[in-house]
Amino acid sequence: MRKDRRETNPALSTRKLKLGTFQTNLDSGCVMSELDGKLEISWPNTLTLAKLADEMEFEALVPVARWRGFGGATNPQGPGFEAFAWAAGISASTEKCGVLSTAHASLNHPIMAAKQSAVIDHISNGRHTLNVVTGWNQPEIDMFGAPMRPHAERYEATEEWMQIVKRLWTEDEDFDFDGKYYRIKKGYLQPKPIQKPHPPIMNAASSERGRHFAAKYCDLVYTVVRGGLDRAFEDWKAHIAAYHKLAREEYGREVRVWTLANIIQAETEKEARDFYDYYVKEKGDWQAALNAVETFMLDVNARNIPADRVKFMQEGLISGWNGYNLIGTKEQIVDGLAALSRTGLDGVILCWPRFEAGMREFRDVTYPLLVQTGLRDFS
Ligand SMILES: Cc1cc2nc3c(=O)[nH]c(=O)nc-3n(C[C@H](O)[C@H](O)[C@H](O)COP(=O)(O)O)c2cc1C
Repeated sequence: MRKDRRETNPALSTRKLKLGTFQTNLDSGCVMSELDGKLEISWPNTLTLAKLADEMEFEALVPVARWRGFGGATNPQGPGFEAFAWAAGISASTEKCGVLSTAHASLNHPIMAAKQSAVIDHISNGRHTLNVVTGWNQPEIDMFGAPMRPHAERYEATEEWMQIVKRLWTEDEDFDFDGKYYRIKKGYLQPKPIQKPHPPIMNAASSERGRHFAAKYCDLVYTVVRGGLDRAFEDWKAHIAAYHKLAREEYGREVRVWTLANIIQAETEKEARDFYDYYVKEKGDWQAALNAVETFMLDVNARNIPADRVKFMQEGLISGWNGYNLIGTKEQIVDGLAALSRTGLDGVILCWPRFEAGMREFRDVTYPLLVQTGLRDFS
């Protein structure tokens, strides 16, 4: 029953540029805006997006583990589907796409997460990847009455969490684990996941400590480089090469580096830019974005954010969770994706402000152009 994960999981395929979606399990999707046509969360709506992704054989449908929203006029990411249950349902309703679930190491017990992931791997027949996050959002950690550990300690606890999950997935004998944060007696998990040696792990840390954790334990890692590709292309390349170097030289491992991008497409570049101004500057939920920035800042270990950067961060969150904005005509979008691929990225998870309309347009007019470039070929 068990299979080599390189044969079952599209996220590990040899396709040159892999694609995915982000945050389709939550209300508003990736934007913080009063824009009409943004994602209104319901099972039919989230499933429609998954089926569109499945048609294009997207490799990574990434849900976000979010337990409460950011208030403001629209409470973005408030209403939403829990990531494991979402992934189980999406797996049962799709054929080809890669399906992720997301676990908070601080909130999801490792036995529970390993067990739930194994079910998703069986339902999807080996298309599952587990995204692990340490938890930075104090109000949602408080909601559980769980400890908000200092940053370094959080990663130390997550390392134990990760070791337990991997042992449950791979070891046939029961085992005890006596750590600083977890004690497991006679750890047992059957059936094992479909994927051998185990489902891949994704992590989207940005700090130095987080990058070391990702390089040591994870298979898919994320990075978002500030600055447009036209001006900062070399920075992107260097940043991605540095991630590979860290994983190879310090941990003897290979990682695949992905990023997050928003597609803001129209008939002309001017129309696309006007649409950006409309949904971000005119209709943006600046209060919700401020609440999110303040939540980041509550994490005392996070980088200290100077006041003049707050507005910039708000705009990034409003336009699409701080992803890289690809703005323009269908040709410009394809050129942008090709440039991202040339930086050395393995994949890009995508968001559209009007998720469903945007994905339909992408499938009908943009994706065929992307296929023509050869970026969706297998090497
Ligand atoms: C693509 C992507 C997905 C993420 N998913 C989640 C999530 O589901 N839940 C969450 O609390 N944080 C999520 N994060 C936040 C990161 O996991 C990470 O905690 C944050 O960027 C802070 O990095 P650090 O831990 O290195 O300081 C995500 C970030 C990115 C870029």
